[in-house]
Amino acid sequence: MVFISAMAEFHAGFCSRPMTDADIDAVVAIEEASQPTPWSAQVFRDCFTSGYRCDVVTRDEQVVAFIVVSWVLDEAHLLNVAVAPAMQRRGVAWALIRDSIRRCQERGLTQMYLEVRESNTGARALYAHLGFEEIGQRRNYYRTVGGRENAVLMMLGLR
Ligand SMILES: CC(C)(COP(=O)(O)OP(=O)(O)OC[C@H]1O[C@@H](n2cnc3c(N)ncnc32)[C@H](O)[C@@H]1OP(=O)(O)O)[C@@H](O)C(=O)NCCC(=O)NCCS
Repeated sequence: MVFISAMAEFHAGFCSRPMTDADIDAVVAIEEASQPTPWSAQVFRDCFTSGYRCDVVTRDEQVVAFIVVSWVLDEAHLLNVAVAPAMQRRGVAWALIRDSIRRCQERGLTQMYLEVRESNTGARALYAHLGFEEIGQRRNYYRTVGGRENAVLMMLGLR
């Protein structure tokens, strides 16, 4: 369990704000550069219309990262997060997810869940550092170029 009271901890020059329709092209470019089976622009638009919380990180007014989180009752689900390859390993995802966790805590949510590809050791390391625990697997959950891949289900207690 974690309790995060600090505001966003982005390094100098990075800012976060809600995603808008005008960001979709930049978001899809990051998605396509970083995910093996990327979401389309329409999927991101559907996230808006579903009321999901979608944020971007900018640097010099360029979108360099995004996050999509849904809320149901007292549970949050981290649906997607990615950082532009050239901006990775600068603490951007760390700060973005912590900012999202803080927002969820302020709303009184009690757990955050996510699924991550079994082979995505970088993301799994990031989530473990943030306090997420591996609580199960979903077999053959993701498509891969050659077939299917398991998802690891992770959970973070928010209080
Ligand atoms: C996973 C991802 C979001 C991490 O973003 P990031 O901004 O580079 O991560 P951070 O710099 O905030 O990393 C914080 C810590 O997480 C861990 N971590 C992050 N990426 C890692 C990697 N590739 N390998 C090992 N550890 C990693 C490290 O402990 C890191 O701290 P350190 O750099 O001081 O060692 C980014 O690599 C990405 O966009 N990947 C493609 C999309 C993706 O896999 N999204 C997750 C889907 S579930």
